[in-house]
Amino acid sequence: MTKILVTGGAGFIGSNFVHYTLKNHPEYKITVIDKLTYAGNQDNLKEVLEKIDFVTGDICDKDLVDKLVSENDIIVHFAAESHNDNSLNDPLPFINTNVVGTFHILEAVRRHDKRLHHVSTDEVFGDLELDDPNRFTEETPYNPSSPYSASKAGSDHLVRAWVRSFNIKATISNCSNNYGPYQHIEKFIPRQITNILSDIKPKLYGTGEQVRDWIHVDDHNSAVHLILEKGRLGDTYIVGADNDHVNNKQVIELICELMGKGSDWYEHVNDRPGHDMRYAMDSRKLRSELGWQPQYTDQEGMRAGLQATIDWYTANDEWWKTEKAKVEAKYAQQGQ
Ligand code: NAD
Ligand code: DAU
Repeated sequence: MTKILVTGGAGFIGSNFVHYTLKNHPEYKITVIDKLTYAGNQDNLKEVLEKIDFVTGDICDKDLVDKLVSENDIIVHFAAESHNDNSLNDPLPFINTNVVGTFHILEAVRRHDKRLHHVSTDEVFGDLELDDPNRFTEETPYNPSSPYSASKAGSDHLVRAWVRSFNIKATISNCSNNYGPYQHIEKFIPRQITNILSDIKPKLYGTGEQVRDWIHVDDHNSAVHLILEKGRLGDTYIVGADNDHVNNKQVIELICELMGKGSDWYEHVNDRPGHDMRYAMDSRKLRSELGWQPQYTDQEGMRAGLQATIDWYTANDEWWKTEKAKVEAKYAQQGQ
């Protein structure tokens, strides 16, 4: 069996990756390392805990990282501080985990000659103008806007440098905005769904013209698996499902409609400082070279993915209800 170490496996995408892997890739023996920050939740894995090894720990703990990397064949690196708004209020944890933590993973991978896949974001490229018809490609220059995206850009640069200078066996993926089950309710889509379920009006930053290229988390994780199997070492792959046709306002209106509210049952709140306008992904390399095909594409796919996500938050209110008041109180302090 191939031993795979999943960093950040108790978070949103990492826990979905663990479930996806157990279902579709029984050839892997999974170990998770997760610090269980406010964003990590061991309950995301409660049905599968006996099938995996779970280590509570910090990727900045050099000795622990060294030991776990030495015991595994492949490392898939999801662990990060992931929320832009938090990075504007307190950037230091972003530098520690995203930059220093990635450094410790890279050094351990180098020492033990292991295969690494580094999970990154489209935000490293900055943003596009609303009327710019272009999309981000693997060649787009880096131009991050927030402390979060700058720290992820820093981690990508470290991976590239370790590939070039030390010849480590690594790949990188840059993916657009994910949605799906187990996403923390501080994030846009689950915040609005749980707002409506709590009889609170959804909150739209500024005018809501901003565009995100939404992708269902299972489509992201199928891409990560394909890159592990067939990706060219040293290469970067853009991951996106061609959903850059809806802006935030339209997403909120769609959520309101799917949840039986009037499509204008939401309110505008303070905008995010430095708010990126538009992300759009050109994933032709991943599709043509590795044969990737996302399931939740275009308007119908997005509608189906959102409906499934709404159903999940509706059926799992014990998962988010205890956190809701705290998350909303924090946003309220910022006028959001
Ligand atoms: P998340 O915040 O939901 O989960 C992050 C996980 O990492 C949590 O379980 C947390 O406890 C853990 N963690 C944080 N600091 C740690 C540390 N020092 N040591 C060990 N574990 C630590 O994030 P997510 O949305 O699941 O994102 C996962 C990865 O995917 C990140 O690298 C992010 O940059 C990237 N990404 C996210 C998106 C998205 O839309 N969410 C899109 C593209 C890329
Ligand atoms: O693009 C990939 C990135 O997507 C990932 O790298 C990040 O980890 C992930 O958090 C996400 O970043 P965003 O900042 O785009 O996601 P967020 O869910 O915070 O916001 C999505 C959009 O919705 C953004 O334009 C801000 C807006 N927004 C957000 C919240 C929380 C609102 O209008 N209202 C809200 O309440």
